[in-house]
Amino acid sequence: MIDQEIASRFIARHAGSQQWHDRALHVLAGGIGHDVRQAAPFPLYIDHAQGAHKWDVDGNRYIDYNLGNGALLLGHAHPAVIRAIEEQAPRGTHFGNDHPLQVRWAELIVQLVPSAERVRFVNSGTEANMLAARLARAFTGRGKLLRFEGHFHGWHDDLIRGFLVPFDIPGSVGVPDRVFHDALLVACNDLEVLDRALAENGDVAAVILEPSGASWGTVPLAPGFLEGVREITRRRGVVLIFDEVITGFRWAPGGAQQRYGVLPDLTTMAKVVAGGLPGAAVAGRADIMDQVAFTGDSAHDRRHRVLHYGTFNATPLTSAAAIATLEIIARGEATAQADAIAAALRQGMDEILERRGIAGYAYGEASAWHIYLEKAPGSGVRDRAALRTTDPVVLKGMPGDLVMAVQAELRQRGIEVMSGLGGLTSAAHTEADVAETLAAFDAAMAELAGRCVATL
Ligand SMILES: Cc1ncc(COP(=O)(O)O)c(C=O)c1O
Repeated sequence: MIDQEIASRFIARHAGSQQWHDRALHVLAGGIGHDVRQAAPFPLYIDHAQGAHKWDVDGNRYIDYNLGNGALLLGHAHPAVIRAIEEQAPRGTHFGNDHPLQVRWAELIVQLVPSAERVRFVNSGTEANMLAARLARAFTGRGKLLRFEGHFHGWHDDLIRGFLVPFDIPGSVGVPDRVFHDALLVACNDLEVLDRALAENGDVAAVILEPSGASWGTVPLAPGFLEGVREITRRRGVVLIFDEVITGFRWAPGGAQQRYGVLPDLTTMAKVVAGGLPGAAVAGRADIMDQVAFTGDSAHDRRHRVLHYGTFNATPLTSAAAIATLEIIARGEATAQADAIAAALRQGMDEILERRGIAGYAYGEASAWHIYLEKAPGSGVRDRAALRTTDPVVLKGMPGDLVMAVQAELRQRGIEVMSGLGGLTSAAHTEADVAETLAAFDAAMAELAGRCVATL
């Protein structure tokens, strides 16, 4: 719940969204299309989007830091991407055959992502991680997966437990208990804990993580952690999977692995990789990936191949949008522009929090910004620097009513976040967007300081 005054002001400005949400409640399960769109007093209904902006059904404009759940590094409706879709659509949207665009798309991934030797296309980040887990299990002949507290790897059974606070609850009902036996959950940022867990469990096929730190850097990784994980997994013969669903083509043109110079065995990518249309990929070492290959001996293949299907894998339409996007990203300027905008936002937001004496701080890297805020009444902390933490329970456990109140106050002022209290930027954001965002953030903090948000 958010406070009545915040809700009333929001309702007054968003009558159209409220009407659509009321209709949705009769036909859409739970009234929303994605858990992360749950919002108080109700979610926005968007009409159209262009560049860094989108407009709701009431005609309100937003500076968008959600960008198709992180998919749009070039911004909404980029002319080159639209042109590619318009050229391909009349030639057919789905052949049910292989086609040249799929090969060109895979070539771009191999060119850009340092560890990618072979690619297989799927339809979502969740599916990509399912395939990566199967490949790792087949390659090692082992059954277990090891994942870190707070990291998100999609909504499938295998990896559902452990990304929401508290980390040790199943995360969803409807998942059989036996699944949890095969998915080890360990604290992040502690190499000894990882090494011990792998020593005690000789049957781990893969370690999977978000190389940005949990939830696109909401919980930063400790310096040296990534390198340490690489060394330990290599030493113990465990497949290392980087979930680059968000960081792929965003943390650098070659993803987080390029930015940090640490290479995994397998990489999963969704979002930016598919140019804003539905699509995703798994890429990595040829010897692991080629387990999907037919050998010509059907009796052998029936027993020894990794099976992989998927009606919509790399449709021509998605491939066309993806190629247009990745060809621009390969030039490098898009990532640099998005990074510069995010850096300006982080700095400006942090200065606002400091000036207003608010118990919180701004942080993040690459094209991500995050805000941590203490809930009012205050925790008694007097020093902003003392709030800095890498504790996932703190950073991912901000109270829901605080988060929803801040989100509503930002939306009220034309700012749309990604999820929680953070956002992603695009190459379409400008300095004018930064100035407008900081003014809106300042006004939202003025409204909430001492009321929902703690002051020092
Ligand atoms: C790091 C990460 N992995 C996996 C997923 C799941 O991707 P999808 O929503 O395409 O299934 C997400 C989605 O946000 C993600 O952020």
